[in-house]
Amino acid sequence: MDIHTNIPLKSLTTMKLGGPAKYFAEAHTPQELHDLYLDAQTKNVPVFVLGGGSNVVAHDEGYQGLILRIKIPGFEVIADDLNSTTIKIGAGEIWDDVVKRAVDMRLSGIEAMSAIPGTAGAAPVQNVGAYGQEIAETLISLEAYDTQTHSIVTLQNADCEFSYRHSIFRGSQQGRYVITSITLQLSKNLPAAPFYDSLQAYFDEHAITVFTQQVVRDAVSAIRADKLPDPKVRPSAGSFFKNALVESWQMDGLRQAHPDIKAYEMGNGTYKLATGWLIESLGFKGQTLHGMHVNEGNALVLINESAASYADLAAARDEIIGKVRDTYQVLIEQEPLEIPAL
Ligand code: EPU
Repeated sequence: MDIHTNIPLKSLTTMKLGGPAKYFAEAHTPQELHDLYLDAQTKNVPVFVLGGGSNVVAHDEGYQGLILRIKIPGFEVIADDLNSTTIKIGAGEIWDDVVKRAVDMRLSGIEAMSAIPGTAGAAPVQNVGAYGQEIAETLISLEAYDTQTHSIVTLQNADCEFSYRHSIFRGSQQGRYVITSITLQLSKNLPAAPFYDSLQAYFDEHAITVFTQQVVRDAVSAIRADKLPDPKVRPSAGSFFKNALVESWQMDGLRQAHPDIKAYEMGNGTYKLATGWLIESLGFKGQTLHGMHVNEGNALVLINESAASYADLAAARDEIIGKVRDTYQVLIEQEPLEIPAL
């Protein structure tokens, strides 16, 4: 287990910002994770756990602690019946490789989450979702290193308290658990309508009427390539803002004042506002603020075109949040997690 020093966080995150991490190491097994964590804790060195670095932003000051990247591999079928296959996946696996393997096995449940950057272990943290699927729908349980008890624990789906782009791992228990594996139960049924609006529109446009997991994967990959920047080419953290959730009374007022506003009913009186629409309506789309470019394909995504620092990113973010708040009285939130400036 090598421990490196002074590694620039801009080289570890797809947003390509951030000063040096004092220490950096990779854990390839739960045992290595345990050893590295305990060693750091004994020496009073704070630890921040990283997957692919595609949904985090780092500060210019860097991190005066240990950045621990999880590289634990694994892809194992642990149950199989007439209707479904259950697979245990190492947290360090590349998420899109997992989707590809599941699709090759003709399993359904994650094919619409194709071409999302990042690792399998990071996916539950923000309850990754796209084109009508989210990981909460197929995740049975996960294993995690509990940094309080220094043991590996199993958490069931309900324990994770999943909701839109949220879980205990970025909420009440942030920093406590390090996910080491996830277990997904995938269906042997073919994908079927109703599909997410833009996916259905793609099928209509291409006269696709027979749906397999591969067909959905190909369609989603094409839609994403068209709308979302490739983080390897244009630095970003995917959607930089979450879609805002509002109550029905607020939705009524918004609809009256802005009849074109886009929103989706979530049940129990909550609406998900298409925040990309809000940002676009304010003229930000295609603009560059403080070196951060508001993506033409989807205004939720900020691309680091020439930002010199986290301060530039924060200035762009705050300008957008402020204008949305002043115009719509809606508070929109940043989606990527922050590596604390320590
Ligand atoms: N829209 C606009 N303007 C925009 C962006 C969106 O008017 O600039 C409208 C669209 O026309 C559509 C609605 O908003 O009516 C929803 O748009 P879209 O389907 O593109 O999805 P989104 O809500 O903007 C979310 C996820 C994406 C995910 C897509 C598809 C969040 C924060 N983002 O975006 O996730 O790919 O749905 O399911 O929930 C990511 O997290 O990095 C990410 C890309």
